[in-house]
Amino acid sequence: MTKLKLKKKVYIIGLILFLLILVGAYFGNKIYQDYKYKQTYEYKFIEHGYTLEEAKSLVQFYQKESQLENILALEKNSYILELIKEKYYIDNNLSRYLDYKEKNEETTTKDVVAIVNVNGDYKYYEHDIPTDTSLNFLINVNKYYTLPEDFEPIDIEDISIRYSYEGNRISKEANDAYVSMWNAANTAGYTLIVNSSYRDYQEQVDVYNSKKASLGEKEADKIAARPGHSEHQTALSIDVFEMNNQSTLTFKDSPAYTWLKENAYLYGFIERYPAQKEYLTGYSAEAWHWRYVGEDVAKIIHDEDITFDEYYAYYIENQA
Ligand code: DAL
Ligand code: ZN
Repeated sequence: MTKLKLKKKVYIIGLILFLLILVGAYFGNKIYQDYKYKQTYEYKFIEHGYTLEEAKSLVQFYQKESQLENILALEKNSYILELIKEKYYIDNNLSRYLDYKEKNEETTTKDVVAIVNVNGDYKYYEHDIPTDTSLNFLINVNKYYTLPEDFEPIDIEDISIRYSYEGNRISKEANDAYVSMWNAANTAGYTLIVNSSYRDYQEQVDVYNSKKASLGEKEADKIAARPGHSEHQTALSIDVFEMNNQSTLTFKDSPAYTWLKENAYLYGFIERYPAQKEYLTGYSAEAWHWRYVGEDVAKIIHDEDITFDEYYAYYIENQA
């Protein structure tokens, strides 16, 4: 009888001990899990003021610890969640996007990203960057990226007078591509003609000064590049018209222009200053100015409907 009682006692004590261990393990684990969660960025973002959903999105988007730390170092700003949804978002530009949006509340997020990516948050000609001339067909020259005065384009050669007015020169690969494009356009019923192409630094001085003298600086800057800022100095650009329409005023309405818009990319050319993109390119629309970038890049720019400036920021600089 006593033996049985003792057994029961031991059994009950054992059970209590077992339950205690179980409860202890449960709470111990909970404390440990809590501690672990507090180490996560999701928790840190919530502590920083973000909602759970926002915190989850940030953690999902930013893969590197350094990026997560950068976000934590900034004041809480839910606009970041809008920015990271943009296709051309560049992490390095984040604080500039936030600054730009603060000063330009009406600007859409897509445009905030595009404008800052192309350096549009800086004033023209007050933020010169020597351009990377090793990029050959992908050299970027605009109101920020500059070429040295003595820049020597590669493999420069004459464009045959069959396809051009006399005295026009561009880089060989661009010239070959232009001839192919000329033939295709010809088959479609259009006779293309180049009236300007490579211009060295000094020629651009003359072009710019003459526009400035006739129109004043503000208007000249909309249509002509200052020396060292002209894409014509790369020998990769052509001003191309059609025999029946050589007017800068009406070429944009010609079927030859429509043909170029639909087909030029197949030959590696892009429209460099499209209409409605002046706020990104810095220039009024120039239906006649086509830039050689090679077929692969031209296709991306054409299909994604972006400017070369945007392409350069996202696909070249950002990936470097
Ligand atoms: N017309 C273009 C922008 C140039 O002068 O290079
Ligand atoms: Zn031009």
